Amino acid sequence: MSNPLRDPRDRRLPKVAGPCGMILFGVTGDLARKKIMPAIYDLANRGFLPPGFALVGFARREWADEDFAAEVHDAVREYARTPFREDVWAQLSAGIRFVAGDIQDPEAYARLKSEVDTLDAERGTMGNHVFYLSIPPGLFPVVVSNLRESGLTDSTGDEWRRVVVEKPFGRDLASAQALDEVLSEAFSPDEIFRIDHYLGKETVQNILAVRFANAMFEPIWNCNYVDNVQITQAEDIGIGGRASYYDGIGAARDVIQNHLLQLLALTAMEEPLSFSSAQVHAEKEKVLSAVQLPSNIELHTARGQYAAGWQGGVPVVGFLQEKGIPPTSTTETFAAMRVTVENRRWAGVPFYLRTGKRLGRRVTEVAVIFKRAPHLPFASQAVEELSDNALVFRIQPDEGITVRFGSKVPNTPGMEVRDVTMDFQYGDSFVDTSPEAYERLILDVLLGEPPLFPNSTEVDLSWKILDPVLDCWADLGQPEQYASGGWGPSSAYDMIARDGRTWRRP
Ligand code: BG6
Repeated sequence: MSNPLRDPRDRRLPKVAGPCGMILFGVTGDLARKKIMPAIYDLANRGFLPPGFALVGFARREWADEDFAAEVHDAVREYARTPFREDVWAQLSAGIRFVAGDIQDPEAYARLKSEVDTLDAERGTMGNHVFYLSIPPGLFPVVVSNLRESGLTDSTGDEWRRVVVEKPFGRDLASAQALDEVLSEAFSPDEIFRIDHYLGKETVQNILAVRFANAMFEPIWNCNYVDNVQITQAEDIGIGGRASYYDGIGAARDVIQNHLLQLLALTAMEEPLSFSSAQVHAEKEKVLSAVQLPSNIELHTARGQYAAGWQGGVPVVGFLQEKGIPPTSTTETFAAMRVTVENRRWAGVPFYLRTGKRLGRRVTEVAVIFKRAPHLPFASQAVEELSDNALVFRIQPDEGITVRFGSKVPNTPGMEVRDVTMDFQYGDSFVDTSPEAYERLILDVLLGEPPLFPNSTEVDLSWKILDPVLDCWADLGQPEQYASGGWGPSSAYDMIARDGRTWRRP
């Protein structure tokens, strides 16, 4: 397949996936429609899929291959990042199949096996199969045991089998470990790919590039210079139609356990010996092992639920009035916590994590806030508008990096100093637009490259950090209500004020 979107000046060799096919469970779900199917098309469009790539949908629907292909087509038309091209679609859709069946029914897996065998012969997928489980984890045991019993997970010679699982990977340490056991009945650790889509974002990968490709940041990346780190993932939307997923899960399990602790790990980890999977995981594991909660969890965490209000000029309902949420739900839609990283580099530096729905605006950022200069040779009124230096990784939506520092105000008598910012914007420096996280991650699964997927140790360590917080909150009853469109409950302001600090206003 030609590669129309490649910039001819880009001399890096693209890695194209070898012969393979993907079997998708959960084809009718939101994620499949909005992210997975469009990403597969985008990869095909960029020339990263093998010509004989096959996509097999499996679900309890009376669909023929063409019906499923029509679903994929609609999803691609609506959500793909790259332009629609008939020739690319024709090649991709020629490999689309559908197997109708109940997830519990062994017979259905026998039909799936025979379809996959046929594709191996007809499209040259050569026995290389990814099982993408975009389904609730409660269904993993039955799917995995049926895949195993039907022989779908058996490979010979150079063939490979891989499984992709979506979050939530458990709801605490014990359930995450139980899921691991289920998966390990049919797959070895290097065949299991746990998706944390934040790690597929270019701006997140750039944290390591900026830290370790440059000489000027690492010397100050430690407790001698850093006052605190604030990691924020804020959304202006509510839970939308996801009540059944979200109720009982909440903001901490949904976002802190995975995305925010991964961002913390990338910000705080030591330089890996190389960017091989083993080395990156080794450093992330070390730093996550060093994360410590304060002894008084209640004082240094905050939780809240969004109340009815206004957002973007339209009235919005509160969390407890959302369809499918019981009026007594204690699920939090805002969560914040303070942790420290107990090692020499980060001794005494608080890392503040916060996430929430229906906040002021959609923004994800990692802000490294530096200590004040030890001495300021200016009159106190001259530096009234000077705050702390900061380096901010703007993960989204306005991707880039901001450095904040003090500068002389021109045309004023004397030395008046005020904050200014220096901005790096992706769009200004690079010709290519960034791929969607799912494009990168799905390609890595097909290539068998796991550095961007949290391993089971990281997942377990993250639950170990979060479990005591969740236990503490379980006894606290109803979370505090916060106004939609604001920046969270007052307890979030109080927790950081106790440390003599304030949240950044993104
Ligand atoms: C998902 C959460 O993992 O991340 C969602 O389940 C959240 O609740 C989403 O909305 C945010 O992702 P992004 O990429 O839009 O920041």
